[in-house]
Amino acid sequence: MTDTLDIKITKTTASRLSQTDFSDLPFGKIFSDHMFVADYEDGEWKNFQIVPFGDLGFSPAISSLHYGQTFFEGLKAFKQQDGSVVTFRPYKNAERFNKSAERMCMPSLPEDIFVKSIAALVDVDRDWVPTAPQTSLYIRPFMFATDPYLGVAPSKTYKYMVLTCPVGAYFSKPLKVKIETKYSRSSEGGFGYAKAAGNYAGSLFPAMEALKEGFDQLIWTDAKDHAFIEELGAANVMFMVNGTLVTPSTRDTILKGVTRDTVLQLANKWGVPVDERRVSVEEIVEGLKSGSLTEAFGVGTAATVTSIATIGYEGQLYHLPDPAKAEFSTKALKTLTDMRYGLVPDDFGWNYKI
Ligand code: PLP
Ligand code: COI
Repeated sequence: MTDTLDIKITKTTASRLSQTDFSDLPFGKIFSDHMFVADYEDGEWKNFQIVPFGDLGFSPAISSLHYGQTFFEGLKAFKQQDGSVVTFRPYKNAERFNKSAERMCMPSLPEDIFVKSIAALVDVDRDWVPTAPQTSLYIRPFMFATDPYLGVAPSKTYKYMVLTCPVGAYFSKPLKVKIETKYSRSSEGGFGYAKAAGNYAGSLFPAMEALKEGFDQLIWTDAKDHAFIEELGAANVMFMVNGTLVTPSTRDTILKGVTRDTVLQLANKWGVPVDERRVSVEEIVEGLKSGSLTEAFGVGTAATVTSIATIGYEGQLYHLPDPAKAEFSTKALKTLTDMRYGLVPDDFGWNYKI
């Protein structure tokens, strides 16, 4: 697969693999030995390289630092029973990468280059793909503007890079979340659907405020009235209401999650009714009060399927039934996990072999 992309590979002479404790993999802190780097100059992508992971040297004037012209993706690679490695639906991330690029006024990257760069990097670092249950190799492709220019204008040069990290679970326990009614993550006409760094920067202050109140995460609502549910900070959100899987339909304020799409397709296959539409805060609170809302959970690459145990709204806490007994989300998590580790047939053809 990787032979058709001309990549110069320089391997490290000082691998950190043997010093890495694979029994303790905090999310996003341990990096594999290599990284992928490419340059965009004179209107084309060039200089495809895999080099030892390390610091970068740049002008302090590069526009991504000043005006935030940068975005990223997130996907994972999994070790199979036979020792081979797969990534999960990488072309979906490639597609979204280019949606983000367009909105941030940055160059698109051919989908094959995106997928092949990842395949080549994971291939070089395949011994970094962990094997313990719940672990995987998290893959972080990203692009940033590199023109050393302080005028507000799209850069003419960019870097595309990929890092990988062996990781365990992102969330270690069911979440206590707050329905946010003051701050917004994104607004109509904005760029909430892009995986732009600025969306995450803007979410930090409200998230820290919620943390002080004892919450783990926020459920964002629409910027206009705070009357409709949008998504979680790092995942899409789903609810089981009277046996129907209810989730906000995607729009320009919401990231179109790959895991969201995957879980919806599984629900369809299992004959579980699915309702994708605008979901009001009012109906969620009513469902929590009446007991018709039996499950709430986040779905995302890092988050996988993470149960919500408690929802806070306007000073009230609503507790959900024991997440350990939540039928749909437990089945979704198990099926997703088994598929990605190759323990059950990949009926949808979602695994992409490296
Ligand atoms: N929404 C936000 C804001 C996210 O950061 C993520 C994580 O990537 C998601 C949703 C879920 O998307 P995906 O399932 O493609 O990882
Ligand atoms: C992912 O799930 O890939 C994400 O991007 C979440 C991340 C912000 C930790």
